[in-house]
Amino acid sequence: MNRTPIETRIVSDREQEFAHCAAIRAEVFVDEQGVPPELEMDELDSAAIHVLATVEGEPVGTGRLVLKEDGTARIGRMAVLRVHRGRGVGTAVLEALVQQARQCGVATAVLAGQLHALPFYEHGGFTAYGEEFEEAGILHRMMSKQIG
Ligand SMILES: CC(C)(COP(=O)(O)OP(=O)(O)OC[C@H]1O[C@@H](n2cnc3c(N)ncnc32)[C@H](O)[C@@H]1OP(=O)(O)O)[C@@H](O)C(=O)NCCC(=O)NCCS
Repeated sequence: MNRTPIETRIVSDREQEFAHCAAIRAEVFVDEQGVPPELEMDELDSAAIHVLATVEGEPVGTGRLVLKEDGTARIGRMAVLRVHRGRGVGTAVLEALVQQARQCGVATAVLAGQLHALPFYEHGGFTAYGEEFEEAGILHRMMSKQIG
C-alpha cells in the first residue's frame, strides 16, 4: 500500500477548486465511462458541498454532498483519477463527505452506487438496498449508512 499523504478539503473557492473537481469528473465519468457531459454536470452542483482530494498538491479525487429537505444527505460524483486508485483516495473523500454531513446534523447518508463500486462503499460502511436500476446507461443500487 502506497502511503503518500492524501489531503482532502471542502471546496470554498468555486472558480479554481471546483474547476479541479469538474476536470476530474470529466476525465472519469465522461472520457472513461462514456457518460454524456450534459448529464454529468447538473443543477445540484451549485448547491452541493464538494470535496477535493490532493496528493502532493495534485488534484486527484472528488465527491459531492447534497443536503435534502428530509434531513438525509446524498453522496455522489465520487471519482478518483485512474492512476491514483487503490491507494485510499476514494476512502478519504468518502470520509470527508460523511464527516461534513454529520456536522450538518444529518443522520442518514444515501448514495446510488455503480455495481462495480459496491464493495468500495461497503468498505466505507454503506449497505445496499432495493433493486438494481439504470442511470446514464450504468447499473446502480441504492446504499445507505447511519451516521448520526
Ligand atoms: C470507486 C472509486 C471512487 C474508489 O476510489 P479508490 O481511491 O480506488 O478507493 P480506495 O483506494 O479508497 O479503496 C478502498 C477499498 O475499496 C476497494 N475498492 C475500491 N474500488 C473498488 C472497485 N471498483 N471494486 C471493488 N473494490 C474496490 C479497495 O480494494 C479498497 O479495499 P482495501 O483497502 O481492502 O484494499 C474509484 O475506483 C473511481 O473513481 N472509479 C471510477 C468512478 C466510479 O465508478 N465512481 C463511483 C460511482 S458510484
